[in-house]
Amino acid sequence: MRVINSVKELKRHLSEERKKDKSIGLVPTMGALHEGHISLVEQCIADNEICVVSIFVNPTQFNDKNDFASYPRTPEKDYAMLEEAGCDYIFAPSEEEMYPEPDMRVFDFGSITDVMEGAYRPGHFNGVAQVVSKLFYAVEPCKAYFGEKDFQQIAVIRVMVKQLDIPVEIIACPILRESTGLAMSSRNTRLTPEQHQKASLIAHTLKESATFVPGKKVHEVIDYVINALNNEPVFRVEYFDIVNRDTLQSIHNWTETTDPIGCIAVYCGEVRLIDNITYKN
Ligand code: PAJ
Repeated sequence: MRVINSVKELKRHLSEERKKDKSIGLVPTMGALHEGHISLVEQCIADNEICVVSIFVNPTQFNDKNDFASYPRTPEKDYAMLEEAGCDYIFAPSEEEMYPEPDMRVFDFGSITDVMEGAYRPGHFNGVAQVVSKLFYAVEPCKAYFGEKDFQQIAVIRVMVKQLDIPVEIIACPILRESTGLAMSSRNTRLTPEQHQKASLIAHTLKESATFVPGKKVHEVIDYVINALNNEPVFRVEYFDIVNRDTLQSIHNWTETTDPIGCIAVYCGEVRLIDNITYKN
């Protein structure tokens, strides 16, 4: 496994691999890796001859400076986990390497970025698109792997590759959870032991809400989830909505679409967590 910091050097190595007709897969990450990330890496290794994992805490996607500053950074542990998993190249650029000049690009992804994460984290998806497009140009992967935990992010990336005409296949991978049901996240390390224990209530409540479908109305299920969590002083629900999984627009009746998805962002203390659940109707 090689750790590479420069785009030029990365391109040099990958062009050698391409000359040998090797297929290249990419897993973009911000580090502080956990088993959820590793499940993407394993899928990438299974599907491709060469697996590239990028580790870069991208400043342009953080609309909150404190969140960027306090984002966990654990490079040594990350490298050990990736070596163990069988990754071929780690691309770990500096901020100057990734953004030698400020990225002035402003994307317009239409209504999919007006809702949920897009609405509550203005500029977030623009930053994600900036960095992921740069990673795609640097690596030129055949396939790139993203987790369904960030459901809206996958939708945005799919629109982005269409708009920019980037020849990459986007592979969506399922959410990995802790034994309590809590969706794995780099941010979980910032929870106190007590908060960490409470946080399992998020997935538990979502799962429970799925048992009410289709008996209860959509808005009743939404109210149930929000109230159940907000009743616990440690939580503050930022949003919970049930949306069409293709358009990401709110649904009002279960009959409007198949497999709608409920997406939540909730503060557990100071830590913002997201999760989602698919409803079967
Ligand atoms: P990061 O939060 O590090 O996540 C990297 C990838 O791992 C994302 O595709 C995310 O959806 C996936 N992932 C995180 N937790 C997961 C879990 N519990 N199960 C399955 N997959 C999980 O998402 C980002 O970084 C950034 O926005 C990035 C795409 C790298 C651009 O900077």
